Amino acid sequence: MRTSQRRATPRRYLMCSPAHFKVTYSINPWMDPTKPVDLPLAVAQWEDLRDRYRALGHTVEELTPDPALPDMVFAANGAVVVEGRVLGARFAHPERTAEAAAHATWFRTHGYADVYEPEHINEGEGDFAVTASWLLAGRGFRSSPLSHPEAQEFFGRPVIGLDLVNPRYYHLDTALAVLDDSTDGDIMYYPGAFSTGSQAVLARLFPDALIAAEKDAAAFGLNAVSDGRHVLLPQEAVGLFEPLRERGYEPIGLDLGELLKGGGSVKCCTQELR
Ligand code: ARG
Repeated sequence: MRTSQRRATPRRYLMCSPAHFKVTYSINPWMDPTKPVDLPLAVAQWEDLRDRYRALGHTVEELTPDPALPDMVFAANGAVVVEGRVLGARFAHPERTAEAAAHATWFRTHGYADVYEPEHINEGEGDFAVTASWLLAGRGFRSSPLSHPEAQEFFGRPVIGLDLVNPRYYHLDTALAVLDDSTDGDIMYYPGAFSTGSQAVLARLFPDALIAAEKDAAAFGLNAVSDGRHVLLPQEAVGLFEPLRERGYEPIGLDLGELLKGGGSVKCCTQELR
């Protein structure tokens, strides 16, 4: 079924330059501190992503990078914002702890009145995905299962808890992407990242989902951002392009190879301000 005319809606994103990006520690299986990072290339790849959003008519806000926080480029982890209400983050690893306050301060100084600092560990949009009426929520590696009821209470939206079981897909956004957030139906995901029970939950709620193959998941193809029509994703995830087109989306492949050395790609670099 080719769905013609998917409609993009204008978005507002928060991003943080990789000016101080480094891989000096390893908190996920993709990070190898012995592998050099080409910093100017990382910056160029990131600017390309930012400029693509702007060329598509979206607004990109920038958070000031902190030299002491080499993972700060992965801005998706700093909060979850729905209808202008901000659920702050609490990071699992001490190396990233201070990022939460940097995000909270940005929101407080940019007109957000409702900024909640959580009690339980949650890594923002790394583990929370927003559909029209639900929050899909990952747990197992980073976000605490206790962060799920906390988010449900804060947003008043049902939280669907999903168990991540493969350390290579340590955040929900490495294994699942929402394609059309005007409905509760349209996502893509890699089943192998989830427990058997969570695979069954996903199959029940999203019977028409685009199912990704392992090699596209391994290329971080699910770490994608959709505006309802354009889907920005790593260019190496070639197997996803045609299935996306068949559903009426316009895939846009990007090279974020240097940032992949930190275990992140398009989505990890992008927090949506809803
Ligand atoms: N190096 C970062 C970490 O392990 C990468 C975070 C990627 N972000 C994401 N939204 N998946 O925490």
